Amino acid sequence: MKTGTHAVAKRYLITSALPYINGIKHLGNLVGSMLPADVFARYQRARGHEVLFICATDEHGTPAELAAAEAGQDVAAYCAEQHRLQAEVSSRFGLSFDHFGRSSSRRNHELTQHFAARLEDEGLIEERTEPQIYSAVDGRFLPDRYVEGTCPKCGFERARGDQCDNCGSTLDPTDLIAPRSKISGSTDLETRETNHLYLLQDRMQDGIRAWVDAAEDWPPLARSIAYKWLDEGLMPRAITRDLAWGIPVARDGKVRPGYESKVFYVWFDAPIEYIGATREWADATGSDWQRWWRTDQGADDVTYVQFMGKDNVAFHTVSFPATMLGSREPWKLVDRLKAFNWLNWYGGKFSTSENRGVFMDQALALHPSDTWRWYLMSNAPESSDASFSWEQFRTTVNGDLVNVLGNFTNRILSFAGTRFAGRVPGDGEAGDDERRLAGELRAHLTEIEAHHEAMEFRKAAAATRALWAAGNEYLTRAAPWTAIKSDPERAAVAVRAGLNLIVLFARVVAPIIPDSAAKMLASVGAGSVSDTGWPDGDAAGWLDALPRGAAVANPGPMFSRIDDALLAEWETNFPGG
Ligand code: 2FM
Ligand code: ZN
Repeated sequence: MKTGTHAVAKRYLITSALPYINGIKHLGNLVGSMLPADVFARYQRARGHEVLFICATDEHGTPAELAAAEAGQDVAAYCAEQHRLQAEVSSRFGLSFDHFGRSSSRRNHELTQHFAARLEDEGLIEERTEPQIYSAVDGRFLPDRYVEGTCPKCGFERARGDQCDNCGSTLDPTDLIAPRSKISGSTDLETRETNHLYLLQDRMQDGIRAWVDAAEDWPPLARSIAYKWLDEGLMPRAITRDLAWGIPVARDGKVRPGYESKVFYVWFDAPIEYIGATREWADATGSDWQRWWRTDQGADDVTYVQFMGKDNVAFHTVSFPATMLGSREPWKLVDRLKAFNWLNWYGGKFSTSENRGVFMDQALALHPSDTWRWYLMSNAPESSDASFSWEQFRTTVNGDLVNVLGNFTNRILSFAGTRFAGRVPGDGEAGDDERRLAGELRAHLTEIEAHHEAMEFRKAAAATRALWAAGNEYLTRAAPWTAIKSDPERAAVAVRAGLNLIVLFARVVAPIIPDSAAKMLASVGAGSVSDTGWPDGDAAGWLDALPRGAAVANPGPMFSRIDDALLAEWETNFPGG
């Protein structure tokens, strides 16, 4: 069987936004970064390119401390356990990270302290005295989410110190009206002066704008968010916090005087963990991390692609580039950035804190990962927000996977089983019908490739469905079930084409539903997906690629139908609204 691609191999560094450590992620998180990044990584690997796919847990900041306190656990132990759980559920979802690291790793500590030192040496860090909220009852400062109160912009009463979840405004704890401590509930709060380090992003405004201007490959959503921030004018940004858990504000092993109970801000160290996790991977595998990240060490050949939800765009187009550019070292910056809108839960929000929606582990207990992967990618919130409903999940799974792909596979395999002794028929040669089909397949494949390259996942899924439809229409025209009586040779050609279509469909859909693709390939004895890669070469050859006479076996229904009873059960257990 022909494999791989004839094109020159490229190198792709792919990162997914790092999921917060505070519990298993919901489907909204999954579809907004980790899953599409995985589909893109699998696609580019199948095309024969060299891919390094990196993710990690984002372990610092108030979300981690608060969740650990709620779980009654020491924060380090909590993070270790949650990392293990997230790694496990990610792997069950087929997320093919080359490394799933931790932002609390030694490597990230080193790198974060390194960047801070470089920025300071470049005159881009300044110490400032500022008012912070101090709680006498708790005996500590209350940064970010340690304070809640009323949003000054929209009046929402449960706004958090770093942002308002109602109107999306970025806030400072001192902005909140009627603030209260998230730890003790105390309203006996005062503002006290304390020192923090500020990154002088305003001094980098021109350099960052020039870099954004030159970034031709960003989709509109990412560009418009970056320009909005630049147009508003970049402000100096505090990169330290009054917290115990995090990366110490230290240099050459010595804590900065006055920073004994402070750490770097989570949004300073989290993106640096993309590099940190690559170093963790390199340590574990004996690989060279610099050829992925240092342009003086070969990384100028790398295409770096980032995936994230829209709330993360400013951090990746402005703040993280400011860190890297400001260091005046040759770091690899993002080339292409794919941002997603929100997947909502019945028009409302998925919510970790309010436990609303379906979480990754729950989803896997209900239905196999591939059905979720297919549903989420074919309904990805790309051009606008999207909304989950059980009915839509059922329609997608039954309509596409059960009725079209599964039915095709089952029909042709069972016919080959009963009428061709479970073997790839050897008789007859391709005729006009097969030549026409080959032309259609080539056209569909070209379209699918273009959508994957452009990271247009809904369109890639729709074009994949159209490929299956072309195969189905061919089989309906060729009708081997009737031809077997009048023209057994034609029936043999059609069944051979049908069995080879299973291979083609599997290879093309593998980035989205890898487990099912592997099952499909196994059913016709075509080996693992990684052996076969993306189809290339002459389309007519795809219809005659399996060795004639080779054994095939129907593994039974590839996908299970969601019936009314199951739908009703899920709607009851996971209600909308
Ligand atoms: O919004 C979030 O879920 C963050 N944990 C994303 C961090 S992305 C990266 F910069 F680390
Ligand atoms: Zn608000």
